[in-house]
Amino acid sequence: MAGDLPMMLRLGAGRTVGRLGFGAMRITGPGIWGPPHDEAQALALLRRVVEKGVTFIDTADSYGPGVSESLIAKALYPYPADLVLATKGGLVRPGPDRWNTDCRPEHLRRACEDSLHRLRLEYIDLYQLHAVDHRVPLEDSLGALIDLKAEGKIAEIGLSNISAAELAHAQRLTSIASVQNHYNLRDRSSDQLVDHCAAAGIAFIPWYPLAAGRLAVAGSNLARITERHQATPAQVALAWLLHRSPTMLPIPGTGSIAHFDENLGALSLRLSPGEFAALR
Ligand SMILES: NC(=O)c1ccc[n+]([C@@H]2O[C@H](COP(=O)([O-])OP(=O)(O)OC[C@H]3O[C@@H](n4cnc5c(N)ncnc54)[C@H](OP(=O)(O)O)[C@@H]3O)[C@@H](O)[C@H]2O)c1
Repeated sequence: MAGDLPMMLRLGAGRTVGRLGFGAMRITGPGIWGPPHDEAQALALLRRVVEKGVTFIDTADSYGPGVSESLIAKALYPYPADLVLATKGGLVRPGPDRWNTDCRPEHLRRACEDSLHRLRLEYIDLYQLHAVDHRVPLEDSLGALIDLKAEGKIAEIGLSNISAAELAHAQRLTSIASVQNHYNLRDRSSDQLVDHCAAAGIAFIPWYPLAAGRLAVAGSNLARITERHQATPAQVALAWLLHRSPTMLPIPGTGSIAHFDENLGALSLRLSPGEFAALR
């Protein structure tokens, strides 16, 4: 696979981004609630992300709530021309570590307007439905995003935490630029969706790409490959994702500049077909 690993990815009909993004969920307080322990470090990390050439940042209104989006604007506005911001709506937060679904059209409209305000944007490059709310027909939730897109407030629509059947349903209603589901070396329950997205030219954004940090610790099947490449387990786990599909767009999350720098090293790691297979 060496040499032919695509380094760029187009999101729907819109912007082109580098293959490794940044997940901005971990720059809030514990339980993804409230401000971070050290705001200056969170702002420095966000600036470093952009300085090192990352062009895709994933956030959500519910991270904090509001905290992650506000820090992004505080650190990076006015934004570099090549930076693509993706946010999400559809979850509400009654407290730390608690996530409730609310995908009623009126909630999604208000959530999108609030994100536009916090991010200081006229439109959002990629707006993702954070989850499917089974109390609300998908036509209605997605209908709100289709309306926001027609009004120019959203450039592209993405979906998160969805099944193959829900994606097929959504694709009959509108064009979908991205799917964001749980996926990593250890959890491959979205394997079929990964392949479907690659065939359809849809970005697949794996959340928990490092299994929430567990893949950053040396494991038996990673050990030999990390040694051979003088790489870290996190770099090999991210490189495996990059090799898995040409439309894979990992968004490792961290609050640490050192971990961010380390994760970026995955971009220059080329796994041989044998190594890739050994990790299967
Ligand atoms: N759509 C959804 O429902 C959903 C759900 C969860 C997450 N997300 C998105 O996906 C992004 C990624 O997921 P995630 O942040 O939860 O999980 P992750 O990227 O799999 O792992 C993040 C965890 O790993 C640690 N870590 C990162 N790099 C490391 C390294 N090189 N060495 C050691 N530890 C390392 C981080 O701790 P340190 O801070 O100490 O580095 C953090 O605790 C989030 O930021 C968010 O944008 C979306």
